[in-house]
Amino acid sequence: MPETDEILVKPASHAVGAEVDGVDLSAGLSPSALNTLRKAFAAHGVLFFRNQSLTPEQHIEFAESWGTIVVNRFFTPVNDYPQVAEVRKESHQSINVGGGWHTDHSYDEEPALGSILCAKELPASGGDTLFAGMSAAYEALSPGLKETLSGLRARHSSRHVFGEEADMPDDIRDRLRNAKEATQDSVHPVVITHPLSGRKALYVNPGFTVGFDGWTVEESRPLLEYLYQHASSEAFTFRFHWEPGSVAFWDNRATWHYALNDYPGQRRLMHRITLDGEALSA
Ligand code: OGA
Ligand code: MN
Repeated sequence: MPETDEILVKPASHAVGAEVDGVDLSAGLSPSALNTLRKAFAAHGVLFFRNQSLTPEQHIEFAESWGTIVVNRFFTPVNDYPQVAEVRKESHQSINVGGGWHTDHSYDEEPALGSILCAKELPASGGDTLFAGMSAAYEALSPGLKETLSGLRARHSSRHVFGEEADMPDDIRDRLRNAKEATQDSVHPVVITHPLSGRKALYVNPGFTVGFDGWTVEESRPLLEYLYQHASSEAFTFRFHWEPGSVAFWDNRATWHYALNDYPGQRRLMHRITLDGEALSA
């Protein structure tokens, strides 16, 4: 039986995500298996895999079967694997990485395609990740607001999050690097046509978007806030519970994510590889 017949893709929720069964990411994937995963990735925005337990080498190999790895300059890499970033919270630390709605790298002119996150050490409970689907969120807006948004572009920046001007407590500063290099600013359409799915998607996020192009920060805030509360509402989100060996592979252009910080006094360690993306258009 061809391998693809054994791969099961089960939607995780109405708006975002799918659980994929019947694939071993640690072994080289056949062209037909990769094709099945590519279609599922475009359709669902984030894929969840169970019981994988990838080594850094296998993680890198899977990432490279998909595209080109991009090294995030702010995260500490895993020893001996500069392509793999650590997403870590120690038991004595209070702030986690990614603890608010965001999508990675929107401050780049060619934002990263997405990330492959592997669970390494999990708290006994808690530490789930929320995902939100930006095509479903866009499609649910009124025709009038869609029309208004279609003419808008937004500014994104890394400065206020990773830069020297960031209001960063010491608790997290140790886990991030290169604040001086947080000088990326970009402008993207507020509604993009997704490069893989061809669906329109809302492309602003609470983490990195600073305002609409040509508008002040103050003028931008009310409409951005409206879009944020709309897109993060229950109808468009899914909560992923990590188990040992779980892997999540998300598309930054189709989804947001939010790492829940509900495991005080416990360690959580994830390995992340980020893939190169492309310029986005309306
Ligand atoms: C990230 C991130 C989410 C998590 O790695 O970009 O936001 O659940 N992580 O750790
Ligand atoms: Mn993130």
